[in-house]
Amino acid sequence: MEIKKIICIGAGYVGGPTMAVIADRCPEIGVTVVDINPERIAQWNSDKLPIYEPGLEEIVLRCRGRNLFFKTASPELIAEADMVFVSVNTPTKTFGEGEGRAADLQYLEKSARFIRPHLKPGAIVVEKSTVPVKTAEAISTILHFESQGPRHPVLSNPEFLAEGTAIRDLEEPDRVLIGCEQTPEGQLAAQALADVYAHWVPRERILLTNVWSSELSKLAANAMLAQRISSINSISALCEATRADVGEISRAVGLDNRIGPQFLEAGIGFGGSCFRKDLLNLSYICEHEGLLEVAAYWKGVVAMNDFQIERYTRKIVSSQFNTVAAKKIAIFGFAYKPGTDDTRDAPAIQVCQGLLREQARLAIHDPKALENARYDLKGVEGEVAFEPDPYKAAEGSHAIVLLTHWPEYRKLDFQRLYESMEKPSFFFDGRNWLDHAALHRIGFNVYPIGKESLSHI
Ligand code: UDX
Ligand code: UDX
Repeated sequence: MEIKKIICIGAGYVGGPTMAVIADRCPEIGVTVVDINPERIAQWNSDKLPIYEPGLEEIVLRCRGRNLFFKTASPELIAEADMVFVSVNTPTKTFGEGEGRAADLQYLEKSARFIRPHLKPGAIVVEKSTVPVKTAEAISTILHFESQGPRHPVLSNPEFLAEGTAIRDLEEPDRVLIGCEQTPEGQLAAQALADVYAHWVPRERILLTNVWSSELSKLAANAMLAQRISSINSISALCEATRADVGEISRAVGLDNRIGPQFLEAGIGFGGSCFRKDLLNLSYICEHEGLLEVAAYWKGVVAMNDFQIERYTRKIVSSQFNTVAAKKIAIFGFAYKPGTDDTRDAPAIQVCQGLLREQARLAIHDPKALENARYDLKGVEGEVAFEPDPYKAAEGSHAIVLLTHWPEYRKLDFQRLYESMEKPSFFFDGRNWLDHAALHRIGFNVYPIGKESLSHI
């Protein structure tokens, strides 16, 4: 089957970049992205895109109006499509059964109900959102309930892109995963989607599996990545207690070919829209299946992350003579990682809340995420300033706390920062990002993660 028109429901961090790359690499396919939020669509059509992602703007400018369109959803658009991607958000439930753990699938279901009456015969539905296993089946049930018409194949095609490198991850993926029903129609549909990706992805990297394996692979991949971070962070706590150096341990461990060097950087903890959500989801599903030990195992990865954030926040307070009340503290970096303005589940949120509970006065700097930071801390009690100039944020402060390893932080004039601060001045490097010996020489009392502190006190 030849795909000529694609529509994607959900113009977010996943839907937007994915569709832009498909449009770029498949000039003969018309790609339209729709969203219930008209403001988002207007932003995609403006000079300032709603998300920041390196390389995205160039592609959008190249394709927009040619074969890439951003519109509000309409039945006519659905009716024209050969393939419908569903890329709406699936946050952790904030109510009812499974609150705080299960995925909230209401947007996914709404999308399925919305497209159902308008789909043209044979149109393929592709589930892009990260969802618990068997959601494709649920979508299929909604699409076909009491319907006499032809069945629409539902594929699972989870996204493995990481923010900040989304375009590269899409253009050169390690693998593309397509899950399909094990029927001739399902397999034909999977082939049609594989043909779209084969415009730029080598065929051997396109894996066809059954639907449930595909859905579960996404959860398993994210859970294992997060587990590596929690593992090394657990070791970082031990290092601080015993004077070993977690950087040296990461290197030594990562040089083992069987383990490999990636995702072994100790730090303040992982954040982002996926890891916590997917771990909680995985553990919820396991519990539901009666696998209590398995559920507890994966929940432990989340617990270790929370422990790391709390532990470091306590350290920030205890090293400053057990009080930060009324002290100004500069926070450098609020995004959950560099290269993005995204602050979803950023460790900075928990650190800032903890410091505000201790009545510190915060001045937050981030090169991209100040707007989101303002939103995240809305309603939190305490004194918080959002400062676009890092030098102003640090002026008169007792401590700088680095929580996102933005490259620009390495270029700061630390002597100047030091001179503008209260004494003794503290530097908490929550990402082990800077030259600690150099900071110490300037006069800072330096507290890295998983390494000995360098203090003058
Ligand atoms: C994606 C995946 O869908 C999610 O499962 C994964 O775990 C993280 O990445 P993401 O693209 O990051 O989600 O979410 P978001 O940026 O919030 O975008 C979702 C978009 O869907 C929003 O713009 C929202 O307005 C839109 N939406 C939501 C709809 O168009 N219709 C709905 O019914 C609900
Ligand atoms: C992740 C997965 O990498 C991606 O494949 C999936 O599709 C979505 O979830 P993302 O959340 O964008 O992507 O970012 P990622 O680069 O994986 O980082 C997640 C968090 O882990 C960040 O807060 C980062 O700072 C932290 N991290 C990462 C560490 O603390 N140490 C590391 O060694 C690596």
